[in-house]
Amino acid sequence: MEKERRLIIAGNWKMNKTVAESIDLVNGLKRELANVKEVDIVVCPAYTALSEVSKSILDSQNIRLGAQNMSENNVGAFTGEIAAVMLKEFSVRYVILGHSERRQYQKESDELIARKALAAHTASLKPIVCVGETLAEREGGLMEKVLETQVRGSLAGLSREQMEETIVAYEPVWAIGTGKTASSAQAQEAHAFIRAQLVKLFDETTARRVRIQYGGSVKAANARELMGQPDVDGALVGGAALEVRSFADIIKNSI
Ligand code: 13P
Repeated sequence: MEKERRLIIAGNWKMNKTVAESIDLVNGLKRELANVKEVDIVVCPAYTALSEVSKSILDSQNIRLGAQNMSENNVGAFTGEIAAVMLKEFSVRYVILGHSERRQYQKESDELIARKALAAHTASLKPIVCVGETLAEREGGLMEKVLETQVRGSLAGLSREQMEETIVAYEPVWAIGTGKTASSAQAQEAHAFIRAQLVKLFDETTARRVRIQYGGSVKAANARELMGQPDVDGALVGGAALEVRSFADIIKNSI
């Protein structure tokens, strides 16, 4: 089936891999995926490996670089922070924002994530903005309320043009690293709900152009079924992105 939007599959390496391990992984992916043209492929290593991974993919036609976070500020006295322009120096194209781990451990708010998304666009980086409910929220019947609040808050202030260049990642917290994937029906339902929010906040045309990734225990075995859903436009992969075989198989099974 021809998809309406081009698939984008990104590996979020989280706090894994030394520089040497990162180079090994990306070189393996280059070899395995050299002929893949149908999908946008993104790798998101730790900051410390960006420079070397960037060099490794200089001659790659299809693998692009992403970061896992950035500051909402452009420059100045913000110890420990990294600005968008600094990421640009390593040819970073994408940046994951508001991952549930950052929402949980760093207490990132929707308002902060929205400021980061605007700063990313100002530097011509494409944000991957993460949303998703916890198990308690889902079981309490709050999924739609949570998604609506996160989508509205984290994307506040973006223009239609910026929204079209933004990727939304639906990552139900209960499916991250747990081996419990959302069923394809659950994923489709949440993605369609998110797209309906985008219609309300922007317009029909914009909403139709935005790519919504699914994240949470994506593996080679479930990738085809998930990617086959009409509103699922890619994947944000954690654990299975840490090995060449499993990440390459997810991509191959998605085409
Ligand atoms: P897992 O694929 O390990 O469940 O992680 C998903 C995730 O958090 C990607 O950002």
